[in-house]
Amino acid sequence: MSGHDDVLHLTPWEVRHPLAARLRVPGDKSLTHRAILFSALTRGHSRVEGWLDAADTRASLRLVQALGVEADEATEGGCRILRLTAPGPDRLQEPDQVVDCANSGTTMRLGMGLVAGVRGLTVLTGDASLRRRPMGRVLRPLAALGARVCARGGEWAPVAVEGGRLAGGRWTLEVASAQVKSALILAGLQSRDGVEIREPEPTRDHSERLLRMLGAQVQGPDNGVIRVAPLTAPLAPFDLRVPGDPSSAAFWAALAALVPGWAVTVEGVLLNPTRTGFFRVLARMGARVELEVEAEQPEPVGRITVEGRPLQGVEVAGQDIPSLIDEAPLIALVASRAAGRTRIRGAEELRVKESDRIAATAGLLRTLGVAVEERPDGLVVEGPSGLHGGTVDSHGDHRLAMLAALAAAVARGPVTVRGARAVSVSYPSFFRDYRVLAAAVTGNRYEGGPEGSP
Ligand code: S3P
Repeated sequence: MSGHDDVLHLTPWEVRHPLAARLRVPGDKSLTHRAILFSALTRGHSRVEGWLDAADTRASLRLVQALGVEADEATEGGCRILRLTAPGPDRLQEPDQVVDCANSGTTMRLGMGLVAGVRGLTVLTGDASLRRRPMGRVLRPLAALGARVCARGGEWAPVAVEGGRLAGGRWTLEVASAQVKSALILAGLQSRDGVEIREPEPTRDHSERLLRMLGAQVQGPDNGVIRVAPLTAPLAPFDLRVPGDPSSAAFWAALAALVPGWAVTVEGVLLNPTRTGFFRVLARMGARVELEVEAEQPEPVGRITVEGRPLQGVEVAGQDIPSLIDEAPLIALVASRAAGRTRIRGAEELRVKESDRIAATAGLLRTLGVAVEERPDGLVVEGPSGLHGGTVDSHGDHRLAMLAALAAAVARGPVTVRGARAVSVSYPSFFRDYRVLAAAVTGNRYEGGPEGSP
């Protein structure tokens, strides 16, 4: 592994030993965002153990700090601890600067719901990718609930929210999106009458679980409807332990699935069923997959084991999609090793993620020799096909940078990855773990790049 200027040259792993790895991954991104953002509605001291310290979650931290929450970081026994001290919802302050959400859609979308209840003007912006992502899906319902909002072209950041006078009401989500749902839940908690949200399909329910734990009245979904009552007191300060991120564990699971006989176990992972669709798809493709839940509250947590076996193509569509939306590109990579056709449908949301993940995944895999076709709402992969070497681009998208690195490990030739530093958005230690696994498989130190690169 070597690289300069955010270009990494990765050589295929020279396999001497089958992969048999046991590891942990950094804290869950969705839960870390929520812990940080929800702390703003508490009064007092909260503690978040094992939080994900990454570019995305630091954006949420910047937002709550701009609102008057104090943050203090520590490391205890190798574990990252974040202490948050909040003045109470009625004492939050108007940010005196534009808040930069960087690459983080979760910060911007949940953040709009949060600041819709805060008196004063909040202006949120982000990097070039975030400024291209649709925000009308949050702005329209917030306006319907009584907030004053505006955005570039009514759709794009920078967005401005003048908060503090939410009436409440009902809204049917335009897309199955946990980010939009969570924004409206946060607005509902700070509204006069509460809100009712109808979601077309179930999406990750971390906000509902965590807010209930903190004393909020968030009910449902009952027949697809979530009811949120206005807060009558601040949320309770909390002590939360964040489990490993299943979306990060998915990379190592995919690596094991790519080679029959390879096995990976990831410990201490969030196993909420609204997040584990990818592992169910791997099992349907023929991999051996075990999810063992060890604790249930407030979220199921446990161990994931995946072992590679001969794979066959599958259909992925409908209600499965929200539970694997961030892992869909990985399904396409694994499908390159499966016999027959794999089709991902009903996943048009992938076009408005950190990159257009349908176009970018198809482009990346095609460069490496995979027979992949782009569809308006998904991808079709004919396997087995590829993978040879080539030069690919992450398009600044963290998940595509990691996917490219996995492809490089098992490809027949070297893979050059442009934009590999994007991994810092969700998994800053990705390449450290990559080197450890590479060294175990090759029997050598995986040489080339400077320590800690990129
Ligand atoms: C997230 C929800 C998903 C997901 C994103 C994180 C969340 O987005 O893609 O990475 O934490 O709520 P959508 O809700 O827009 O589908």
